[in-house]
Amino acid sequence: PTAPLSADRIVLTGFMGAGKSTVGRLLAAELGWQFADVDAEVEERYGSTIAQMFSALGEAEFRRRESAVIARALGRGNVVIALGGGAPETLTNRLLLEQTTRTAVVFLDAPFEILFDRCVLQEGAAVRPLLMDADAAAQRFRQRAPIYRRCAKHHVSTADQHPQETVTAVLRLL
Ligand code: S3P
Repeated sequence: PTAPLSADRIVLTGFMGAGKSTVGRLLAAELGWQFADVDAEVEERYGSTIAQMFSALGEAEFRRRESAVIARALGRGNVVIALGGGAPETLTNRLLLEQTTRTAVVFLDAPFEILFDRCVLQEGAAVRPLLMDADAAAQRFRQRAPIYRRCAKHHVSTADQHPQETVTAVLRLL
């Protein structure tokens, strides 16, 4: 990018299907920064899939693991971090995001129907345990919208955008 960045950590937040991982990977490549995908790092560090963790250990244990991975990712510099969709619901994670300086939190947003279709059509609901019940997922979406907005300094709509356009929009904000 031509403009200098004041942040050396960019954190992408938003609901499942917002494009956090896809956009994060492209953004990191464009900046020449590391990319930390929290879901993938949780799976790698603990040696099982998220779906398995939810069914064998429950959501609370997944959330503890998720926080540990986020804390470690925020300790790096020149890093783009894609959070899992539920991460900002955990108080520990919100505090971590606030405490870290030079961190730009960006909320990738789109209407629920678009997000749900993106996830379920692309991968099926089995990858994301919280999408198995569409009504409960819609309920979570409504609960989380204000949380995403509060923890993010920037807001980008991804509704009808190609991931590369979202990358450009994020870079323009910073
Ligand atoms: C979750 C979102 C998922 C993953 C887990 C729980 C959530 O991440 O962390 O299935 O609570 O919304 P993505 O947003 O990357 O799908």
